[in-house]
Amino acid sequence: MRIDVLTIFPDYLRPLELALVGRAAARDLVDIHTHDLRQWTHDVHRTVDDAPYGGGPGMVMRPEPWDEALRAVSGGDPTRRPRVVVPTPAGVPFTQRYAAELAEQHWLVFCCGRYEGIDGRVVEAWADDEISIGDYVLAGGEAATLVIVEAVTRLLPGVVGNVESITDDSFAHGLLEGAVYTRPPIWREREVPAILRSGDHAAIARWRRDEALLRTRRRRPELLDRIELSAADRAVLAN
Ligand code: ADE
Repeated sequence: MRIDVLTIFPDYLRPLELALVGRAAARDLVDIHTHDLRQWTHDVHRTVDDAPYGGGPGMVMRPEPWDEALRAVSGGDPTRRPRVVVPTPAGVPFTQRYAAELAEQHWLVFCCGRYEGIDGRVVEAWADDEISIGDYVLAGGEAATLVIVEAVTRLLPGVVGNVESITDDSFAHGLLEGAVYTRPPIWREREVPAILRSGDHAAIARWRRDEALLRTRRRRPELLDRIELSAADRAVLAN
């Protein structure tokens, strides 16, 4: 997969060089390019913003630098168009399912807005997706882009060695994952649940499912309405 990021703060995206995404890039499993939007400005001040029509606080990003940048980055080949993503608190909620959909694309371009946002005409002309990572307002799209790129990259073939660690994630089954444990078996008088040390794989799977169901009911009860529950699931939740 190729990923381009357009931003006025290219250094903000440096964490993409680290850890899981950085290793995936070093192994050519993802090809990430960050671009400074100001290279597509032509005045001495390299202006990217202006006052909003209709009044109100803050500034709006001008359409011209974005249009030039998107033309330059997406190239002249209309048969190989990227999927253009604009992170915004006014977007569609980002979910694990959305991450999986984006992971199937061959090319993503992220447009990181600042100030009050990007002029609506250039968003309408170019954006395939306007995505929100949650019901809070960040100072710009950069942090949201880091989040989306990491969630997508870890789903790309070969990035995560153990495929089960993806398929058993929180949300992979529509449930929150329960707590996990490693050695030592007793730590500050707290013991690892005995069943996890029993070697009974079927019983362990059922216990983990039960923990996930109970945690989901406590923390995100609305998620239970969106999945299919077995008779055994219902029995656990009946208590
Ligand atoms: N930009 C600012 N806030 C955001 C959010 N919550 N999600 C995505 N992009 C944003």
